[in-house]
Amino acid sequence: MPVDVIVGAQWGDEGKGKVVDLLSEHADIVARYQGGANAGHTVCIGEKQFVLHLIPSGIFHEHITCVIGNGVVVDPTALMDEIAQLAEAGVNITGRLLISHNAHLIMPYHKQLDAIREQTPNRIGTTGRGIGPSYIDKFMRIGIRIVDLLDRDVLARKIKVNIAEKNQLLTKVYGKTQIDVDQIINEYQEFDQRIDEYVTDTALFLHGALKENKRIIAEGAQGALLDVDHGTYPFVTSSNPTSGGACTGLGIPPTAVRSVAGITKAYCTRVGNGPFPTELHDATGEKIRTVGNEFGATTGRPRRCGWFDAFALRYSAMVNGIENIAVTKLDVLDAFEEINVCTGYEFAGRRLKTFPTDLALLDRITPVYERFEGWNTPLSSMTSLDQLPSSARTYLEALAELTGTRLWLISVGPRRSQTIVVE
Ligand code: IMP
Repeated sequence: MPVDVIVGAQWGDEGKGKVVDLLSEHADIVARYQGGANAGHTVCIGEKQFVLHLIPSGIFHEHITCVIGNGVVVDPTALMDEIAQLAEAGVNITGRLLISHNAHLIMPYHKQLDAIREQTPNRIGTTGRGIGPSYIDKFMRIGIRIVDLLDRDVLARKIKVNIAEKNQLLTKVYGKTQIDVDQIINEYQEFDQRIDEYVTDTALFLHGALKENKRIIAEGAQGALLDVDHGTYPFVTSSNPTSGGACTGLGIPPTAVRSVAGITKAYCTRVGNGPFPTELHDATGEKIRTVGNEFGATTGRPRRCGWFDAFALRYSAMVNGIENIAVTKLDVLDAFEEINVCTGYEFAGRRLKTFPTDLALLDRITPVYERFEGWNTPLSSMTSLDQLPSSARTYLEALAELTGTRLWLISVGPRRSQTIVVE
């Protein structure tokens, strides 16, 4: 049975956690393929709300095996906190969590360097979780991987090489104090003992599962417009949240992918710096933030809010191969007289053909809007497309048509039951 990929189609925070949790009912494995504890996947079970940063959102289903793939950067502290949080909630993860031996680790100096870079004028507005610096080390080929924890000598040697270099940077360039090598070696050795039972060759496991016809969901974090290759560079994250990242981040071939679904909010949000053509700086933006409770699940930062950008989403659908979309938080728009959707960008009096990833151009475009009538009705208890007011249906149909995708799921509230499946 092939792999279904779930991607964030905007700038992250689209509600992937809820959708993956729902789909998990009919799956065997949920595998996270990139990013790290910068993500915050919120899942509501009954009255309880959980925010997962690293462990895939399928963990709340007892029959699901969760995989943290080789493309993920693992922060030991965040992982241990999450395991403890699940234990406290009575979720048994024994034998159900597998971590790739090839995944890279986030080290304390990655967070330190992330924080220092964020104090410079070129700040990206990162989550401060050390993601960029860890991926820098990965691509510099000096990163420390989970497999390195197995052997104290190898670990100590690698950490020493890294710290010697980082100490130069910290003391000579940034004027900070040196890092203590032994403390870090001891901390990471202790971590090894605690995660040993979960570590394995996850690519091999996934290939075995594919042979056995198991259903695998590949869970992306962040969103396509934050992709280091296809997003609004340099205001992006340091990995590939787009669907292609699922193959490299899990070690599965593209031929194993059966479908790609994009998760999108009924409007747009973005945290951190960078272009956001449909951003609203007025009372309407504030209203979306308040009603939608648009504050970062990882950092608590207020999210920037704006109208749905169909032009950006069309591009996202193109680079991801999105066929179906799940539109989340439709209920947040319940009390708006009028709702705008961006259908294109204009520059120098001409319509652009596609979403520009060039910052200089993105900063100068003018979004073109189409206006839709609001529905002024609470949607949160509606369970089928037929029940939705006609103006809400018109809005949803327009989103699908303008983005060249099919409507698949509609979310009208945080609970599992507040979901409409489109036949
Ligand atoms: P980093 O991934 O922490 O390096 O942050 C880079 C950019 O991606 C910043 O604009 C962050 O706000 C954004 N970002 C990272 N993770 C998420 C996420 O899970 N949701 C939304 N934005 C994110």
